[in-house]
Amino acid sequence: MAAYSYFGPITELVSMDALPLKGAIPEDHLRILKQQGILTRDGMIQEIGGHEKLLPLAKENGAEVTIFDTPVVALPGLIDCHTHICFSGSRARDYALRNAGSTYLEIAKAGGGIWDTVTRTRLASEQELIEGIAARAGKHITQGVTTIEVKSGYGLTVEEELKMLRAIRKADHLVSADLISTCLAAHMLPRDYPGSSREYLEMLGNELLPRITKEGLSKRVDAFVEEGAFSPADILPYFEKARDLGFEITVHADQFTTGGSQVAIDCGALSADHLEASTPKEVSALAQSDVIAVALPGASLGLGCDFTPARALLDAGAGLAIASDHNPGSAPMGQLLTQAAILGAKEKLTTPEVIAGITCRAAAALNISDRGILRKGMLADLVLFPTHDHREILYHQGSLQPAYTVKKGKIIHS
Ligand code: NIG
Ligand code: FE
Repeated sequence: MAAYSYFGPITELVSMDALPLKGAIPEDHLRILKQQGILTRDGMIQEIGGHEKLLPLAKENGAEVTIFDTPVVALPGLIDCHTHICFSGSRARDYALRNAGSTYLEIAKAGGGIWDTVTRTRLASEQELIEGIAARAGKHITQGVTTIEVKSGYGLTVEEELKMLRAIRKADHLVSADLISTCLAAHMLPRDYPGSSREYLEMLGNELLPRITKEGLSKRVDAFVEEGAFSPADILPYFEKARDLGFEITVHADQFTTGGSQVAIDCGALSADHLEASTPKEVSALAQSDVIAVALPGASLGLGCDFTPARALLDAGAGLAIASDHNPGSAPMGQLLTQAAILGAKEKLTTPEVIAGITCRAAAALNISDRGILRKGMLADLVLFPTHDHREILYHQGSLQPAYTVKKGKIIHS
């Protein structure tokens, strides 16, 4: 028998329907529906309509009814399309050193940075990793996030990367948000690899990627294209191989130096993420491509560096998603809504541009079409804020906590 649930009355429902996936969105293009109800069936949105009309239908179907007796604003469940929440250890020392004057690359070269987390993550058991992911995902859920992309990239051997990806898959069964895994074995050349970058990447393409496919652990491949990580020339054949094996591509691009975003364009990547160093040349090339630009304000805040030129990207016509980049090194905060609101204030983004960045445009960055919009037939993933005015959400920069997070029609946090 079908399982129905009903939520209403919703003072303002921000559906994010009928908005463009690319380019600027004027403030008044946000469609707000008043006094609505949402009827869900087996985890999907069955109907959205006026509360007075829809409630009787919900009752007829024996829906589990949630009635709000104070004002609530509904958004699609938030989508964090770029995180590294599978890790062990802390990099609080790096953070203090950086603020005392050392740069990210200096710390990495001195034995801190990504390699420190690799060492600790290798020492962790799969179970410890699962518990870490579940705890971090749990915090994201309290902030209204219902879909979280999670990267590997702190294992950097075939077996250790598989351990991470298996931990992500098992955590996905454990937590109530959906976790979407990405292989980031090309995060850096591991210090203990007895060969060149090219050889390492060839090994990943020949040995790791086929095993990921065989075990069904991920459909996505990412790489850090940067000085001190991998060059465009090194990475292109690896991405080609990954694409031949059926993987979708995403790139850590233009974080400190440029080059990565062009790689993303050249290899037909879904997204180019970071882009803090992108100049007008990269901005315009991205805008002319189908690659979604992903801003990671949490990394700018964690490293104390520039924000992604989000306004310029949107004005040039690019699609802009916003993600937390939650990781132990550059972005330990992990508060997507706070970071998106801060980026909006700094970059002068409209309300729909910011909300699209963490809902429908984030779904596009992950190439998933069943969420990010509140519409009949989409997943019943939503977040309800205790307010009567949708503008209060960004205005409070994350301090207005959701009253409810709903995943596939079920309340998973209140
Ligand atoms: O997205 N830039 C590369 N990777 C991560 C940082 C990972 C780390 O420092 O542990 C990022 O910022
Ligand atoms: Fe990242």
